[in-house]
Amino acid sequence: EKGGYDHFMLKEIFEQSSSIHDTIRGRVSTKNNEVFLGGINDVIPKLVNARRILIIGCGTSWHAGMVGEYLFEEFARIPVEVEYASEFRYRNPVIFKDDIVLAISQSGETADTLAAIKLAKEAGATVLGICNVVGSSIPRETHAGVYTHAGPEIGVASTKAFTAQVTVLTMMAMVVGYRKGTLPKEEYHKLIQEFGKLPAKIKKILEKDAEIKELSKQYVDSTNALYLGRGYLFPVALEGALKLKEISYIHAEGYPAAEMKHGPIALIDEQMPVFVAATKDKSYEKIVSNIQEVKARKGHVIAIVTEGDSVISKMADYVIEIPETQEALAPLLTVIPFQLISYYIAVLRGCNVDQPRNLAKSVTVE
Ligand code: M6R
Repeated sequence: EKGGYDHFMLKEIFEQSSSIHDTIRGRVSTKNNEVFLGGINDVIPKLVNARRILIIGCGTSWHAGMVGEYLFEEFARIPVEVEYASEFRYRNPVIFKDDIVLAISQSGETADTLAAIKLAKEAGATVLGICNVVGSSIPRETHAGVYTHAGPEIGVASTKAFTAQVTVLTMMAMVVGYRKGTLPKEEYHKLIQEFGKLPAKIKKILEKDAEIKELSKQYVDSTNALYLGRGYLFPVALEGALKLKEISYIHAEGYPAAEMKHGPIALIDEQMPVFVAATKDKSYEKIVSNIQEVKARKGHVIAIVTEGDSVISKMADYVIEIPETQEALAPLLTVIPFQLISYYIAVLRGCNVDQPRNLAKSVTVE
């Protein structure tokens, strides 16, 4: 059932070149330059006119929600708030009748997310879901939604569900932005065309598996790690850190790279691996200086860079090159080396990666 892989997690990481295809199948047409999301088609006008969107989720789903925030702001110019479901539900939150609440959950059974949905419904908001498990509780509670179609995810550490969630959020933001007129036609078409190329690009990253396994050996005995990214790649840094924590039990933190100087920089010494998502985008120059700051304090830099990058490769201890893509789609590629690094470090430490201690696949208690 593990299809020849040692663990479900590895199998699920490798499935991403096809699972992403399953997520966009019948929704993104590169032939007609169209995105169609049947599950929410009727509420698109509501989304186009939305005053704000509240995104709720936990763990990895919350990280996907953060990518969603950047996407909806950029493409559709809609203010977005991303909330941990567990905080939202106990806070007497302000919910307007014309709010769109977007709940994200792989399992569709997370107790806190479910409770937050009920609260939002009572307040009269329109509640949409992005879930993976068909027929689970959350899709039954929401007014409309989009399934991620990533296929069953068994490993406790979420991998292919994350890329599927981000894919759905991207498609949603594109449709809404295009209808609203805030995402220009040429941009919309470019994104659609790029979507068609993602499965092959993911495959190319997965071919680096042996190289990533090799470099992971260096960090088996680390006790701490830092993950940095900016813009769309900040949530990826958070997700990278969560992956390492939950399966290898190494303490890790994700930070927006520019925030490092406001505290975490004090932690950096020769013992500290710093994983940086540093692909070419509009904050590239800035992330290069952040890497310099880490190197000046003798930190170990492992950077995910765009193929052919000749600047960071001279500064970092290791670089992992990944294919170029559009800035908004970069989380879908950059997260994959982070997943593999965590996996290999955890395996080398002898951890039970599919069922880490103290964790359950779906958290059905509050
Ligand atoms: O099923 P859900 O997406 O609602 O689960 C939310 C979190 O419990 C989940 O993402 C958790 O953080 C994972 N173990 C992360 O890998």
